[in-house]
Amino acid sequence: MKKVLVATDKPFAKVASDQIRTLITEAGFECLFLEKYPDQQALMNAVTDVDAIIIRSDIIDKAVMDQAGKLSIVVRAGAGYDNVDLSAATEKGVVVMNTPGQNSNAVAELALGMMVYQARNHFNGSSGTELFGKKLGIHAYGNVGKHVARIAKGFGMKVYAFDPFVSKEAMEDDGIISMETVEALYAGCQYVSLHIPANEKTKKSINFDLLSSMPANAMLINTARKEVICEEGLQRVFETRKDFNYVSDVAPDCKAALEPFNDRLFVTPKKMGAQTAEANINAGIAAANQIIAFFKNNVTTFKVN
Ligand code: 3PG
Repeated sequence: MKKVLVATDKPFAKVASDQIRTLITEAGFECLFLEKYPDQQALMNAVTDVDAIIIRSDIIDKAVMDQAGKLSIVVRAGAGYDNVDLSAATEKGVVVMNTPGQNSNAVAELALGMMVYQARNHFNGSSGTELFGKKLGIHAYGNVGKHVARIAKGFGMKVYAFDPFVSKEAMEDDGIISMETVEALYAGCQYVSLHIPANEKTKKSINFDLLSSMPANAMLINTARKEVICEEGLQRVFETRKDFNYVSDVAPDCKAALEPFNDRLFVTPKKMGAQTAEANINAGIAAANQIIAFFKNNVTTFKVN
């Protein structure tokens, strides 16, 4: 009997875990859970004889794959798969998939929620500002970016986007203004919401020049990855501009150094963009179904390696 391990240091909502267990069991497989584990060794111990793993931001590196001798497939229940060593997986013949779009609305709602929280001075009762009529730049118009655009339009924001992989026409169809360069997006929009993946091209790409070019009372919203930010640049912008705000679902490594700017900074205590029951159900069920379809019918939709 095939063994499917759900290895989530940050567990799914119980309602999602229950549905995943039922689905996998009814498909004739064994379903095991490893949640809130103490260290990477616990993950290594749990993978020894499993055929498939469902993960979130859990690290699946070469060491884990070396330990998992029977492993055929890893499904990242979510969008970003920068936590999986794709070359090691490919070398070992392990298929890696993600579940694009399944948790996007949850992440987008958090982005807008953090914008309101910061614009209203952390809900401290003092006079803040409104989002209505302000310019929002969406950096990468993918699944999350599209939800952010939809919600921001409801707030009455003017929405712009930069994405070299999405046509101007497609953006215009959605009522979004397409920006031709990333520089124009940052220079033109008071608010910029980040939705780029972390890869060799994007790491540290959000730098001092881009951030310092933003209009007055700038706010950068990061529900993507901390690695895409050039932290030296971020610190310098905080030091040189008294009107720069940063809200993030991913704590920067330099968080302690940003302490003096706490009124212009908000960081969630733990990455929680995708942490809703709905997103957990959508992404978890999609991951389980992808594993079942892979073992039963060799379906490899959403394979990323
Ligand atoms: C993703 O890439 O899907 C999001 O960053 C959510 O990550 P999480 O599943 O660890 O919350």
